[in-house]
Amino acid sequence: MAAAVPSLLALCARRVVSDHSSSPRWLSCVPRELYRELLEAAFAHCRPLAVGELVRRWPERALRVGGRRRAGQSPPPRPHRLCVQALLLAVVRGLENERCALQVLDLCGLQCEEGGMADSMGGWSLTVALCSIVLQARVESPKGTRREKERKRLSEVKREQDSIFKRERSIEKKAHTVTENSGEVQPATEQHEMEEDLSKGVRRKMEMAQETGGMKGKHTLPEVDAVPERVQVWADLFVTARSWERVRMALSVDGPLRLYCQQLRVEELPASKTVALLSLLPRSGLLGLDIRYSSLGVSGLALLLPALAPFPSLSSLRLHYCNLDLRRDVPGQEGMLRDMALGLKELKNLRQLSLTALRLPGHLRMLLSALSQPLEVLELPYLSLTPADLSYLSCSPHASSLRRLDLSENRLEEVTLPSLRRLLSHSSSSLTHLSLCGCNLSDGLLGLLLPSLCDCRALRVLRVALNPLSRDAVLSLVSAACRIPSLQLLLYPSPLEDYQPGLPPAPSSAQLLDWPLSEELEGRDALQVQLRTVLSENGRSDLLLTSDLLNYNSLLHEED
Ligand SMILES: *[C@@H]1O[C@H](CO)[C@@H](O)[C@H](O)[C@H]1NC(C)=O
Repeated sequence: MAAAVPSLLALCARRVVSDHSSSPRWLSCVPRELYRELLEAAFAHCRPLAVGELVRRWPERALRVGGRRRAGQSPPPRPHRLCVQALLLAVVRGLENERCALQVLDLCGLQCEEGGMADSMGGWSLTVALCSIVLQARVESPKGTRREKERKRLSEVKREQDSIFKRERSIEKKAHTVTENSGEVQPATEQHEMEEDLSKGVRRKMEMAQETGGMKGKHTLPEVDAVPERVQVWADLFVTARSWERVRMALSVDGPLRLYCQQLRVEELPASKTVALLSLLPRSGLLGLDIRYSSLGVSGLALLLPALAPFPSLSSLRLHYCNLDLRRDVPGQEGMLRDMALGLKELKNLRQLSLTALRLPGHLRMLLSALSQPLEVLELPYLSLTPADLSYLSCSPHASSLRRLDLSENRLEEVTLPSLRRLLSHSSSSLTHLSLCGCNLSDGLLGLLLPSLCDCRALRVLRVALNPLSRDAVLSLVSAACRIPSLQLLLYPSPLEDYQPGLPPAPSSAQLLDWPLSEELEGRDALQVQLRTVLSENGRSDLLLTSDLLNYNSLLHEED
């Protein structure tokens, strides 16, 4: 669990950054060892001006902000967008600051899905701000200044070391001068002015940047020591049709900030534009590509896959609602699918493949048997999988290495059940996440499947929402879940008895999703009591049960 008690150091840091007007005093005397703690305090308590002052003089080679959630901990709080803007501006200011040693700025993981906190900066806006700053840095910093700085800095190191002792003595004195009444909360007007200032500044710089924009599509491998005048900026990028041009310019420009991308997500972008971005990205570092709502067509995918082959660490490919427009009557399509398979084969490090709603019935063998390594994550919701597809998968080399498997919204029936059971038995020691939502699992099918589920000894999350099950079947599902010691969360379907009258006899998952639940709470409450009893009888009060499709994710604090 996350530590709830702040350290004494964190409390002091919070105090120091709380009053901006005193920053000229503390900045001159705080030793570099404390900068990190101060910066964290400035982010945590939204002190954009302090963020700017600290980053402008950042004393270390690397600075990491954000970061992914760690196992067993809640995600790190999202910095306020004013703090992020201040950080980015300060990185540019730092290029001219002799005390700034920054060479690697790591913002990976800061990118959040839209719908994060209202005041955090995420989604495409962070990418746009980042690209604007990369362009602005080129305008503001003539080349070469950084290298001279490097030399100067070396000679300064010794002087600085001499003075550290002095400064440490004086920080004790200065700490007393931070007055009691320097409050935490800034007056609203001041905050507002600052916000205006920052955004005005960014806007002006964006305009300036737009007028420049030299083109240069050269790839350099990241060798920080060989190119000391550059700061590497690592980030996850989220590109839409509207921001594409700015991102392309930022990746093309030859300035003091160089953009590296770990996770690239594009939305509603034609394949050719995605390929253009890929051709500009540094080859090292790209771990994942996530393409959403882009009508690729088979030809688009055939264009895209070869463009991915040069990225040696690419391990994840997600295609989310990317229409392939497959039709039986179009000649030459089989050939293009084979090209696609060959393209996948060239992704030597691929471990995660997510194909949502690609509708490729009967082609799983062709696609997956070409891969040179077994997959660890395979997500195939809405794929119209056929019995032959599942049969292939259950005997494929992927089966025994799968950690996550999502077969949601593929119809399961009696003939496919032996394949699914074989698949689960092969993956039983590796599988941690299994999704079978909306698979038309009836009471009878579930009964046949439960023994296989209970054998999944590593399973942590099991999702079976939107299946037409009775109350009794839900109860036996929960009993079975109790017998999987590793299981942390079960997303179960609302039983058929809980719906308002009129639900069709064999409801589809869409009907189960849309049909209103009964307003008579008596029966639903009785089920809850029964479920709790099953949990306590089995000593599994640690197992989370929910039927809440929308919010179950927030119940989990885990590594992704
Ligand atoms: C779901 O399964 C039932 C048999 O249990 C079948 O009658 C029905 O057609 C199936 N529904 C869909 C959408 O396939």
